[in-house]
Amino acid sequence: MVIKNVSLDIVCGITSKLPDTNRPEVAFAGKSNVGKSSLINGLMNRKSLARTSAQPGKTQTINFYNINEAMYLVDLPGYGYAKVSQSEKEKWGKMIERYLHTSKNLKAVFLLIDIRHDPSANDKMMYDWILNNGYEPIIIATKLDKLKRSQIQKNIKAIKEGLKLSKDGIIIPFSAETKQGRDEIWALIDELTGL
Ligand code: GTP
Ligand code: MG
Repeated sequence: MVIKNVSLDIVCGITSKLPDTNRPEVAFAGKSNVGKSSLINGLMNRKSLARTSAQPGKTQTINFYNINEAMYLVDLPGYGYAKVSQSEKEKWGKMIERYLHTSKNLKAVFLLIDIRHDPSANDKMMYDWILNNGYEPIIIATKLDKLKRSQIQKNIKAIKEGLKLSKDGIIIPFSAETKQGRDEIWALIDELTGL
């Protein structure tokens, strides 16, 4: 995808009605602070259109980024953020599930996992949610620049095993610092959205 113009078009809170965009959507899920908004900025060639923060819990809405008036990148709120109350977590879980369940235009769901860590119980639950909604989760191993080269293959293997990825399950390492992995992710999005 050659980026011509991008804009934050739709922001949904817990009580919002989810939009029917009539354009292909791909969504990004993952633990709070894993790098979803940073990845979306990297894909859009923008530094800070998607707001990022060193503090987890930055994105608390479902944000639809319009790419070239052709499709949407959808930034989901992160899960596993300790400071949020249990009832708030449940509301968000339901909202994300509702989005995965009802979007007519959702073509793919990317699940982000920090390349330095084994998948958590929440990551595994999210993986299963995505699967149960009929999508094959595409894994992005984030913060690649934080790992020594010699550790990369070992950690990718651990993520694959932790999530019990199928043999042809896809996992793409990505760094928002170096943009390594960006072209591969776009190639996949182009293919999945038919653009
Ligand atoms: P929530 O909105 O809270 O769910 O978080 P998020 O998943 O959107 O994470 P965000 O993109 O805000 O990034 C969290 C922190 O990690 C920020 O301080 C980013 O700068 C940092 N970060 C994200 N991706 C990378 C990366 O590839 N490399 C490095 N070194 N830091 C990263
Ligand atoms: Mg975010």
